[in-house]
Amino acid sequence: MVADQRPAFTLMVGDLTYANDHGQAQVDNHFNDVMVWSQDAAYMPAWGNHEWDSSGDDLRNYKSRLDLPNPQTSPGTPAISNYGEDWYWFDYGNVRFIAYPEPWSGAWADWYTRAKTLMDQAQSDPTITFIVTMGHRPAYSSGHHPGDSTLRGYMDDLGKNHSKYKLNVNGHSHDYERTYPQSGVIHITAGIGGSSLEEDPSGSCLWAGGCPAPAYSAFRAFHHGIVRLTFGLRAIQIDALCGPAGDGGTNLNDISCTQGGVFDHVTIRSDIAASRGPDGPPAAFSAALAPNPVLGGGTITFAMPRAGRASASIQDLAGRRVRTVVEGKLAAGIHQYAFDGRSDTGARLPAGVYFYSVSAPGGMITRRFAMLR
Ligand SMILES: [Fe+2]
Repeated sequence: MVADQRPAFTLMVGDLTYANDHGQAQVDNHFNDVMVWSQDAAYMPAWGNHEWDSSGDDLRNYKSRLDLPNPQTSPGTPAISNYGEDWYWFDYGNVRFIAYPEPWSGAWADWYTRAKTLMDQAQSDPTITFIVTMGHRPAYSSGHHPGDSTLRGYMDDLGKNHSKYKLNVNGHSHDYERTYPQSGVIHITAGIGGSSLEEDPSGSCLWAGGCPAPAYSAFRAFHHGIVRLTFGLRAIQIDALCGPAGDGGTNLNDISCTQGGVFDHVTIRSDIAASRGPDGPPAAFSAALAPNPVLGGGTITFAMPRAGRASASIQDLAGRRVRTVVEGKLAAGIHQYAFDGRSDTGARLPAGVYFYSVSAPGGMITRRFAMLR
């Protein structure tokens, strides 16, 4: 699935191989497995607890294999692998990425001070539009591992003081969860690849943080998948892509979706104030494709007054579905999906007249549009 996205690089948010539990051969297996994309796209890691906190594995396996840009050393780092690369940062186009370390003694306080300097620089640099942090532990989570209040304090403070800081990506809890902006920052837990999901069933609720979800939680799901980040001049598109379905054992799903389809989406814009809080759900269903005519590609936007199953698709003039843009259970709110002018097989659709259809709780719309080439 990662290779199919042809990524420029991949953020690997910790607990990379589980060799500590399953043996050293798993380190080789993991790095062999990812070669399907890692020969073309950089492997950009954050360290997780499984890389260092038990006797079965340590960070030499990872620090020695990977060459990280602007490497930084944390206080408290394990002595056996104490040669830097505890966290790092880099600029990709108009985005500054700052990784954060594991919570070794003094490591987060030290990171906070130095990340603040890096964010101050980025904030005053007109070529940087967005700041993104990435690491293993969540600051906000209603999954198996709750958010860490110390990390939350640091990230909230950095968000309040840096309007370009809009996104944090983490792992640790084996689930997907997206928050509303917290001090301007959306937090995504993306622990949905490579290992079992971590449900904590209690009655009908699978979430350790309780049901219904806490107020900060915009959308959460137990389902395998990957998260795709697409960066533009003024926007970050976040798409959670559906992976293989779970089972009735340790991989219970609480959403259903089609493999490869988008099960959660949000657009982060640079021109919306950092202090913006959550939107209430829209009053009624609506949907539109823009621009029309479409010049090779466009955007489908629709409003869902309540959560439920939704789909958006493109049909040709004969009514044949040529592209499924999204299909699955979505949260209430405004959803926006890019349509790149291609069919489900990836072929460029010829110029002509097509239909777009959107169905969601509260309504259904089918309208004609023209595509120019
Ligand atoms: Fe972890």
